Amino acid sequence: MTPRTRPLTAAALSLSLTAGLLAGCGPRETTQPSPASPTSSTSTSSTSTSSTSTSSGGDGGAGGKTFLIGMSQANKGEPWRQAMNDQIAAAAAGHPELKVVFADAAQDNAKQVAQVENFLQQGINLLIISPNEAAPLTDVVAKAYDKGIPVILLDRKVKGDKYTMWIGADNTKIGQEAGKYVADWCKRSTRTPCRVLEIRGLEGSTPARERGDGFREGIKADPAVQIIASQNADWLREKAVPVSQAMLQANPSVDVVFAHNDPMAEAAFISAGSAHRDTSKMLFVGIDGLPTPDGGVVSVKEGRLGVTHVYPTGGKEAIDYAVQILEKKQTPPRAVVLPTVQVTKANADDVLKQYGGK
Ligand code: FRU
Repeated sequence: MTPRTRPLTAAALSLSLTAGLLAGCGPRETTQPSPASPTSSTSTSSTSTSSTSTSSGGDGGAGGKTFLIGMSQANKGEPWRQAMNDQIAAAAAGHPELKVVFADAAQDNAKQVAQVENFLQQGINLLIISPNEAAPLTDVVAKAYDKGIPVILLDRKVKGDKYTMWIGADNTKIGQEAGKYVADWCKRSTRTPCRVLEIRGLEGSTPARERGDGFREGIKADPAVQIIASQNADWLREKAVPVSQAMLQANPSVDVVFAHNDPMAEAAFISAGSAHRDTSKMLFVGIDGLPTPDGGVVSVKEGRLGVTHVYPTGGKEAIDYAVQILEKKQTPPRAVVLPTVQVTKANADDVLKQYGGK
Protein backbone atom coordinates (compact mmCIF):
# COMPACT_ATOMS: atom_id res chain seq x y z
CA MET A 1 0.00 0.00 0.00
CA THR A 2 3.00 2.30 0.29
CA PRO A 3 4.20 3.93 -2.88
CA ARG A 4 6.34 1.50 -4.84
CA THR A 5 9.73 3.04 -5.34
CA ARG A 6 13.26 2.57 -4.16
CA PRO A 7 13.75 1.75 -0.47
CA LEU A 8 14.59 4.62 1.81
CA THR A 9 17.70 4.46 3.91
CA ALA A 10 18.20 6.35 7.13
CA ALA A 11 21.19 7.98 5.46
CA ALA A 12 18.85 9.46 2.91
CA LEU A 13 17.39 11.54 5.69
CA SER A 14 20.85 13.09 6.21
CA LEU A 15 20.67 12.72 9.95
CA SER A 16 23.82 12.82 12.02
CA LEU A 17 25.04 9.78 13.89
CA THR A 18 25.22 10.05 17.64
CA ALA A 19 27.78 7.67 19.09
CA GLY A 20 26.63 5.46 21.90
CA LEU A 21 22.97 6.26 21.47
CA LEU A 22 21.99 3.63 18.98
CA ALA A 23 19.27 1.19 19.96
CA GLY A 24 19.43 -2.40 18.82
CA CYS A 25 17.49 -3.41 15.75
CA GLY A 26 16.01 -6.64 14.56
CA PRO A 27 15.45 -8.05 11.13
CA ARG A 28 13.81 -5.63 8.69
CA GLU A 29 14.50 -2.85 11.12
CA THR A 30 16.56 0.25 10.49
CA THR A 31 18.33 1.87 13.37
CA GLN A 32 17.56 5.55 13.35
CA PRO A 33 20.69 7.56 14.02
CA SER A 34 19.02 10.83 14.93
CA PRO A 35 19.10 11.72 18.63
CA ALA A 36 15.40 12.51 18.21
CA SER A 37 15.38 15.17 20.81
CA PRO A 38 12.31 15.20 23.04
CA THR A 39 12.66 18.98 23.27
CA SER A 40 9.37 20.77 23.27
CA SER A 41 8.67 23.36 20.66
CA THR A 42 5.65 25.54 20.40
CA SER A 43 5.37 26.08 16.67
CA THR A 44 1.85 25.55 15.42
CA SER A 45 2.06 27.36 12.13
CA SER A 46 1.16 24.40 9.97
CA THR A 47 -1.26 22.74 12.32
CA SER A 48 -4.76 22.87 13.51
CA THR A 49 -6.02 21.35 16.73
CA SER A 50 -9.46 20.79 15.28
CA SER A 51 -10.49 18.26 12.70
CA THR A 52 -11.32 21.02 10.25
CA SER A 53 -11.26 19.87 6.70
CA THR A 54 -8.88 21.45 4.26
CA SER A 55 -8.02 20.96 0.64
CA SER A 56 -5.50 18.20 0.09
CA GLY A 57 -3.46 16.90 -2.72
CA GLY A 58 -4.08 20.30 -4.26
CA ASP A 59 -2.01 23.22 -5.38
CA GLY A 60 0.40 24.46 -2.71
CA GLY A 61 0.40 28.00 -4.00
CA ALA A 62 3.85 27.78 -5.53
CA GLY A 63 2.58 25.31 -8.08
CA GLY A 64 3.40 22.29 -5.90
CA LYS A 65 1.05 19.76 -4.36
CA THR A 66 -0.23 20.08 -0.83
CA PHE A 67 -0.76 17.13 1.49
CA LEU A 68 -3.10 16.67 4.41
CA ILE A 69 -1.75 14.61 7.31
CA GLY A 70 -3.98 13.37 10.15
CA MET A 71 -2.20 12.97 13.48
CA SER A 72 -4.18 10.84 15.91
CA GLN A 73 -2.82 11.27 19.44
CA ALA A 74 -3.69 8.81 22.23
CA ASN A 75 -3.78 11.38 25.02
CA LYS A 76 -2.50 14.92 24.70
CA GLY A 77 -2.97 15.41 28.45
CA GLU A 78 0.41 13.77 29.14
CA PRO A 79 3.55 15.93 28.86
CA TRP A 80 5.43 13.41 26.73
CA ARG A 81 2.56 13.34 24.21
CA GLN A 82 2.33 17.11 24.10
CA ALA A 83 6.08 17.09 23.31
CA MET A 84 5.39 14.62 20.47
CA ASN A 85 2.71 16.90 18.99
CA ASP A 86 4.96 19.95 19.38
CA GLN A 87 7.78 18.20 17.52
CA ILE A 88 5.45 17.19 14.72
CA ALA A 89 4.16 20.75 14.46
CA ALA A 90 7.69 22.19 14.48
CA ALA A 91 8.92 19.76 11.81
CA ALA A 92 5.85 20.33 9.64
CA ALA A 93 6.30 24.10 9.92
CA GLY A 94 9.35 23.69 7.70
CA HIS A 95 7.13 22.23 4.96
CA PRO A 96 4.51 24.69 3.75
CA GLU A 97 3.15 21.98 1.47
CA LEU A 98 2.06 19.94 4.50
CA LYS A 99 -1.01 20.58 6.61
CA VAL A 100 -1.29 18.58 9.80
CA VAL A 101 -4.59 18.19 11.63
CA PHE A 102 -4.38 16.87 15.18
CA ALA A 103 -6.96 14.89 17.12
CA ASP A 104 -6.72 14.03 20.82
CA ALA A 105 -8.40 10.78 21.89
CA ALA A 106 -7.96 11.56 25.62
CA GLN A 107 -7.17 7.88 26.32
CA ASP A 108 -10.49 6.72 24.85
CA ASN A 109 -10.18 3.92 22.26
CA ALA A 110 -13.66 4.46 20.77
CA LYS A 111 -12.99 8.17 20.44
CA GLN A 112 -9.69 7.49 18.70
CA VAL A 113 -11.39 5.11 16.24
CA ALA A 114 -14.02 7.78 15.47
CA GLN A 115 -11.34 10.42 15.01
CA VAL A 116 -9.46 8.26 12.50
CA GLU A 117 -12.74 7.61 10.66
CA ASN A 118 -13.22 11.37 10.57
CA PHE A 119 -9.74 11.83 9.12
CA LEU A 120 -10.63 9.32 6.39
CA GLN A 121 -13.75 11.33 5.60
CA GLN A 122 -11.62 14.45 5.34
CA GLY A 123 -9.49 12.77 2.70
CA ILE A 124 -6.15 12.70 4.50
CA ASN A 125 -3.14 11.75 2.39
CA LEU A 126 -1.26 10.13 5.27
CA LEU A 127 -2.08 9.02 8.81
CA ILE A 128 0.28 9.33 11.78
CA ILE A 129 -1.10 7.54 14.83
CA SER A 130 0.05 6.80 18.34
CA PRO A 131 -2.63 4.26 19.28
CA ASN A 132 -4.00 4.29 22.80
CA GLU A 133 -4.27 0.48 22.93
CA ALA A 134 -3.26 -1.99 20.23
CA ALA A 135 -6.28 -4.26 19.73
CA PRO A 136 -9.10 -1.68 19.62
CA LEU A 137 -7.25 0.48 17.07
CA THR A 138 -6.13 -2.34 14.78
CA ASP A 139 -9.18 -2.42 12.49
CA VAL A 140 -9.40 1.29 11.78
CA VAL A 141 -5.66 1.47 11.07
CA ALA A 142 -6.06 -1.49 8.69
CA LYS A 143 -8.99 0.28 7.04
CA ALA A 144 -6.86 3.35 6.33
CA TYR A 145 -4.01 1.19 5.05
CA ASP A 146 -6.34 -0.86 2.82
CA LYS A 147 -7.61 2.39 1.30
CA GLY A 148 -4.04 3.07 0.19
CA ILE A 149 -3.34 5.71 2.81
CA PRO A 150 0.20 5.42 4.18
CA VAL A 151 0.12 4.84 7.94
CA ILE A 152 2.98 5.76 10.30
CA LEU A 153 2.62 4.17 13.75
CA LEU A 154 4.40 6.24 16.36
CA ASP A 155 5.67 4.74 19.65
CA ARG A 156 2.80 2.31 20.31
CA LYS A 157 1.91 -0.49 17.92
CA VAL A 158 -1.24 -2.21 16.64
CA LYS A 159 -1.77 -5.91 16.00
CA GLY A 160 -0.93 -7.49 12.64
CA ASP A 161 0.95 -5.85 9.82
CA LYS A 162 -1.49 -3.48 8.10
CA TYR A 163 0.51 -0.29 8.43
CA THR A 164 3.31 1.27 6.42
CA MET A 165 5.93 1.76 9.11
CA TRP A 166 6.50 1.98 12.84
CA ILE A 167 8.81 4.53 14.47
CA GLY A 168 9.75 4.22 18.13
CA ALA A 169 12.38 3.19 20.65
CA ASP A 170 13.04 -0.38 21.74
CA ASN A 171 10.88 -0.72 24.86
CA THR A 172 12.08 -4.23 25.66
CA LYS A 173 15.67 -2.99 25.67
CA ILE A 174 14.77 -0.01 27.86
CA GLY A 175 13.07 -2.40 30.30
CA GLN A 176 16.14 -4.66 30.30
CA GLU A 177 18.47 -1.72 30.97
CA ALA A 178 16.22 -0.55 33.81
CA GLY A 179 16.25 -4.09 35.26
CA LYS A 180 20.03 -4.36 35.06
CA TYR A 181 20.44 -0.99 36.75
CA VAL A 182 18.11 -2.10 39.54
CA ALA A 183 19.98 -5.40 39.98
CA ASP A 184 23.32 -3.53 40.24
CA TRP A 185 21.87 -1.00 42.67
CA CYS A 186 20.49 -3.80 44.85
CA LYS A 187 23.90 -5.49 44.89
CA ARG A 188 25.74 -2.24 45.63
CA SER A 189 23.37 -1.44 48.48
CA THR A 190 23.48 -5.04 49.76
CA ARG A 191 19.72 -5.48 49.78
CA THR A 192 18.90 -9.16 50.07
CA PRO A 193 16.14 -9.55 49.26
CA CYS A 194 15.70 -6.38 47.23
CA ARG A 195 11.98 -5.64 47.06
CA VAL A 196 10.59 -3.97 43.97
CA LEU A 197 7.18 -2.41 43.33
CA GLU A 198 6.20 -2.16 39.67
CA ILE A 199 3.76 0.50 38.45
CA ARG A 200 2.66 -0.43 34.95
CA GLY A 201 1.37 1.49 31.94
CA LEU A 202 -1.99 0.85 30.26
CA GLU A 203 -2.08 -2.92 29.78
CA GLY A 204 -3.33 -2.94 26.18
CA SER A 205 -0.60 -0.56 25.03
CA THR A 206 2.47 -2.30 23.65
CA PRO A 207 5.17 -0.37 25.58
CA ALA A 208 3.70 -1.52 28.93
CA ARG A 209 4.06 -5.18 28.07
CA GLU A 210 7.49 -4.71 26.47
CA ARG A 211 8.88 -2.62 29.33
CA GLY A 212 7.56 -5.06 31.92
CA ASP A 213 8.92 -8.11 30.07
CA GLY A 214 12.28 -6.42 29.45
CA PHE A 215 12.60 -5.48 33.12
CA ARG A 216 12.02 -9.08 34.16
CA GLU A 217 14.76 -10.20 31.79
CA GLY A 218 17.07 -7.53 33.19
CA ILE A 219 16.71 -8.72 36.81
CA LYS A 220 16.49 -12.46 36.19
CA ALA A 221 20.21 -13.16 36.74
CA ASP A 222 19.87 -11.89 40.31
CA PRO A 223 17.34 -13.85 42.39
CA ALA A 224 17.68 -11.38 45.28
CA VAL A 225 15.70 -8.88 43.22
CA GLN A 226 12.02 -9.63 43.72
CA ILE A 227 8.99 -7.89 42.27
CA ILE A 228 6.73 -8.05 45.32
CA ALA A 229 3.76 -6.19 43.81
CA SER A 230 2.73 -5.00 40.38
CA GLN A 231 -0.20 -2.65 39.71
CA ASN A 232 -1.52 -0.69 36.81
CA ALA A 233 -1.81 3.11 36.81
CA ASP A 234 -2.47 3.48 33.06
CA TRP A 235 0.57 5.78 32.48
CA LEU A 236 -1.09 8.52 34.53
CA ARG A 237 0.50 10.44 37.39
CA GLU A 238 -2.89 11.17 38.97
CA LYS A 239 -3.79 7.46 39.02
CA ALA A 240 -0.32 6.50 40.26
CA VAL A 241 -0.77 8.55 43.44
CA PRO A 242 -3.51 6.37 45.01
CA VAL A 243 -2.11 3.21 43.42
CA SER A 244 1.36 3.76 44.91
CA GLN A 245 -0.11 4.80 48.27
CA ALA A 246 -2.00 1.50 48.47
CA MET A 247 1.03 -0.50 47.35
CA LEU A 248 3.26 1.12 49.97
CA GLN A 249 0.67 0.58 52.66
CA ALA A 250 0.43 -3.11 51.79
CA ASN A 251 4.23 -3.49 51.68
CA PRO A 252 6.05 -2.08 54.69
CA SER A 253 9.47 -2.84 53.26
CA VAL A 254 10.20 -1.56 49.74
CA ASP A 255 13.62 -0.87 48.22
CA VAL A 256 12.82 0.04 44.62
CA VAL A 257 9.91 1.44 42.63
CA PHE A 258 10.06 0.69 38.92
CA ALA A 259 7.45 2.78 37.11
CA HIS A 260 6.85 2.43 33.38
CA ASN A 261 7.09 6.22 32.95
CA ASP A 262 8.46 9.24 34.83
CA PRO A 263 5.12 10.79 35.87
CA MET A 264 4.15 7.56 37.68
CA ALA A 265 7.63 7.30 39.27
CA GLU A 266 7.32 10.89 40.54
CA ALA A 267 3.90 10.06 41.99
CA ALA A 268 5.38 7.07 43.84
CA PHE A 269 8.17 9.28 45.21
CA ILE A 270 5.58 11.67 46.64
CA SER A 271 3.54 8.79 48.08
CA ALA A 272 6.64 7.32 49.75
CA GLY A 273 7.44 10.67 51.33
CA SER A 274 3.86 11.04 52.61
CA ALA A 275 4.07 7.50 54.01
CA HIS A 276 7.19 8.57 55.98
CA ARG A 277 9.47 6.23 54.07
CA ASP A 278 13.12 7.24 53.84
CA THR A 279 13.21 8.02 50.12
CA SER A 280 16.98 8.60 50.26
CA LYS A 281 17.37 4.87 50.88
CA MET A 282 15.05 3.88 48.03
CA LEU A 283 15.54 3.84 44.27
CA PHE A 284 12.88 5.34 41.98
CA VAL A 285 13.15 4.31 38.33
CA GLY A 286 11.35 5.97 35.44
CA ILE A 287 11.22 6.19 31.64
CA ASP A 288 10.69 9.17 29.26
CA GLY A 289 13.51 11.54 30.25
CA LEU A 290 11.93 14.72 28.92
CA PRO A 291 14.53 17.52 29.03
CA THR A 292 11.97 20.01 30.39
CA PRO A 293 12.06 21.76 33.80
CA ASP A 294 9.53 19.29 35.22
CA GLY A 295 10.79 16.32 33.19
CA GLY A 296 12.65 13.19 34.23
CA VAL A 297 16.21 14.37 33.56
CA VAL A 298 15.86 17.30 35.97
CA SER A 299 14.23 14.94 38.47
CA VAL A 300 17.33 12.72 38.30
CA LYS A 301 19.54 15.80 38.77
CA GLU A 302 17.50 16.82 41.79
CA GLY A 303 17.62 13.32 43.25
CA ARG A 304 13.97 12.26 43.20
CA LEU A 305 14.40 9.70 40.44
CA GLY A 306 17.58 7.63 40.69
CA VAL A 307 17.53 6.75 37.00
CA THR A 308 15.41 7.38 33.92
CA HIS A 309 15.66 6.55 30.23
CA VAL A 310 15.29 8.93 27.31
CA TYR A 311 12.32 7.78 25.24
CA PRO A 312 12.31 9.87 22.08
CA THR A 313 8.90 10.79 20.72
CA GLY A 314 9.77 10.33 17.03
CA GLY A 315 7.69 13.38 16.08
CA LYS A 316 10.35 14.91 13.86
CA GLU A 317 11.14 11.57 12.23
CA ALA A 318 7.46 10.98 11.46
CA ILE A 319 7.38 14.19 9.42
CA ASP A 320 10.73 13.38 7.75
CA TYR A 321 9.36 10.02 6.63
CA ALA A 322 5.98 11.49 5.66
CA VAL A 323 7.82 13.80 3.27
CA GLN A 324 9.78 10.87 1.86
CA ILE A 325 6.60 8.85 1.33
CA LEU A 326 4.35 11.60 0.00
CA GLU A 327 6.75 13.70 -1.99
CA LYS A 328 9.63 11.43 -2.94
CA LYS A 329 7.40 8.37 -3.37
CA GLN A 330 9.96 6.23 -1.58
CA THR A 331 9.16 3.08 0.38
CA PRO A 332 10.23 3.61 3.99
CA PRO A 333 11.68 0.89 6.25
CA ARG A 334 9.04 -1.15 8.11
CA ALA A 335 10.52 -0.18 11.46
CA VAL A 336 12.77 2.64 12.60
CA VAL A 337 14.29 2.17 16.04
CA LEU A 338 15.13 5.44 17.75
CA PRO A 339 18.11 5.80 20.11
CA THR A 340 17.66 5.79 23.86
CA VAL A 341 19.99 6.59 26.74
CA GLN A 342 20.00 5.72 30.42
CA VAL A 343 20.15 8.86 32.57
CA THR A 344 21.78 8.97 36.01
CA LYS A 345 23.22 11.86 38.02
CA ALA A 346 26.54 11.20 36.26
CA ASN A 347 25.29 12.12 32.77
CA ALA A 348 22.12 14.15 33.48
CA ASP A 349 23.77 17.50 32.64
CA ASP A 350 25.21 16.13 29.41
CA VAL A 351 21.85 14.64 28.41
CA LEU A 352 20.11 17.95 29.11
CA LYS A 353 22.62 19.75 26.92
CA GLN A 354 22.40 17.15 24.17
CA TYR A 355 18.61 17.24 24.06
CA GLY A 356 18.38 20.99 24.27
CA GLY A 357 16.88 21.14 27.75
CA LYS A 358 17.58 23.49 30.66
C1 FRU B 1 2.54 8.95 27.38
C2 FRU B 1 3.31 7.75 27.65
C3 FRU B 1 4.74 8.01 27.95
C4 FRU B 1 5.26 6.66 27.68
C5 FRU B 1 4.54 6.34 26.41
C6 FRU B 1 4.41 4.91 26.11
O1 FRU B 1 1.22 8.55 27.04
O2 FRU B 1 2.70 7.14 28.74
O3 FRU B 1 4.95 8.46 29.24
O4 FRU B 1 6.62 6.59 27.60
O5 FRU B 1 3.29 6.88 26.55
O6 FRU B 1 3.60 4.70 25.01
